[in-house]
Amino acid sequence: MTTGTPHIQPNGAKIAKTVLMPGDPLRAKYIAEHYLEDVVQFNEVRNMFGYTGTYKGKPVSVMGSGMGIPSIGIYSYELFNFFDVETIIRIGSCGALQENVNLYDIIIAQGASTNSNYVDQYHIPGHFAPLADFDLITQAKAKADEIGATTHVGNILSSDTFYNADESFNEPWTRMGILGVEMESAALYLNATAAGKKALGIFTVSDHLLRDESTTPEERQTSFTQMMEIALEIAE
Ligand code: HPA
Repeated sequence: MTTGTPHIQPNGAKIAKTVLMPGDPLRAKYIAEHYLEDVVQFNEVRNMFGYTGTYKGKPVSVMGSGMGIPSIGIYSYELFNFFDVETIIRIGSCGALQENVNLYDIIIAQGASTNSNYVDQYHIPGHFAPLADFDLITQAKAKADEIGATTHVGNILSSDTFYNADESFNEPWTRMGILGVEMESAALYLNATAAGKKALGIFTVSDHLLRDESTTPEERQTSFTQMMEIALEIAE
């Protein structure tokens, strides 16, 4: 346990065992202000805001991850390895890659396939499958069913590109059953696995890449609320 890292300087503030991680640090601030009580800010380095508070009496932290694998790679590594964080639950949006996945549905990412080479650092003599923690998956699914959310559990793509020069880039991923695309979870799952910790990604579908549909931020609010409820309820 450290007092600070290059990217996280709590200045004595505590970080909870479970951290919720949206990509946007202002989303982290919003979550702290609207869902947590007794909130203390624990990071402002690079404006990557982090807060600790309580939800129904249990300590929970929330911190932005930034966009992309390198960014969440740094923050999740430091939280797992230098601050005794046990669980990181990524909450985000993703683009749908299957016809039966609709806008506002919730995706629970059992696995995170990727075109990133982040995994190469472990010198695995093959193709490692980054997976979420099974208990977190089952708890999230049970909670989602309880609140009546439409969920899909399966494989997602953590892509290194948002804008890809190859227009057919998504097709093979769709053929292989990938539910949706985002840009961070593979690094999160790999860091969790390497550190012996737990991770899960939960997503609201913000756009549809086969049907060219997208949502406005206002429209996303309901599914955002469901995703938040799932994440907060399964936080330990
Ligand atoms: N691509 C990558 N990440 C995303 C997308 C997308 O279409 N939508 C939301 N996050």
